[in-house]
Amino acid sequence: MEDAKRIAGARERIFASAKLLVLTGAGISAESGVPTFRGSGGLWKNFRAEDLATPEAFERDPALVWEWYGWRREVLGGLSPNPAHFALADMERRGRGFTLVTQNVDGLHALAGSVNILELHGNIWRTRCPGCGVVALERELDLSSLPYCGCGALLRPDIVWFGEALPEDILRGALMALDSADVMLVVGTSAVVEPAASMALRARASGAYVIEVNPEETPLTGAVDLSIRGMAGELLSRLL
Ligand code: OAD
Repeated sequence: MEDAKRIAGARERIFASAKLLVLTGAGISAESGVPTFRGSGGLWKNFRAEDLATPEAFERDPALVWEWYGWRREVLGGLSPNPAHFALADMERRGRGFTLVTQNVDGLHALAGSVNILELHGNIWRTRCPGCGVVALERELDLSSLPYCGCGALLRPDIVWFGEALPEDILRGALMALDSADVMLVVGTSAVVEPAASMALRARASGAYVIEVNPEETPLTGAVDLSIRGMAGELLSRLL
């Protein structure tokens, strides 16, 4: 099927949908300048995310892990949402059944105006104290030395690392939305990190029509109803 037909088909499904679920990954922020985790530019000082985003890495070398998050905060601090983020925020404002689930921690969906965002992996702008449990929004965090909580414990980013459980309430919300969605749009994820990777399959098994938007093929491509090759910024503006 040619692209124009795919886009028209996807539009028709999306606008007929009573419960639209959107799952986003790093690719939706790529056109804002956010480096994706996999693919070119995904490495920082030769480390992969899997080497640094773990409780073991933080225990072994918290300064290195905070240095990485400091670098990511610096990169992200100067960036703005792109047309794909804005298109989703517009979609939410239309007020029909709409749920946004993201694996991204960059906060760009909120900056674009999305309100109900289920952040599966946390948010880079928040810190969490493993000692007293306090979570705080700290956009201006002094990382010239390791950050400590008032209770004396070393703060960590409020991010779900590899090997850690997702926040229960957020996961529950995402699964409920999956099970009741009639259309699911999967944008900019390589679909290799669980549980997000299986979400499209679960939604499809419970009856949703699943549309993927990605410039590359992914493990999902053969398993969805419609896969559209292209950049999220351009495609979501046309689709939504
Ligand atoms: P990845 O970096 O694994 O995948 C990004 C995807 O976006 C790839 O499939 C690209 O082809 C696609 N892409 C690139 N540019 C795009 C564009 N302009 N429009 C649409 N798609 C584009 O990112 P995620 O799948 O989000 O977890 O990675 C999942 C998780 O792995 C992340 O949340 C992170 C990471 O390690 C943690 O940090 C816990």
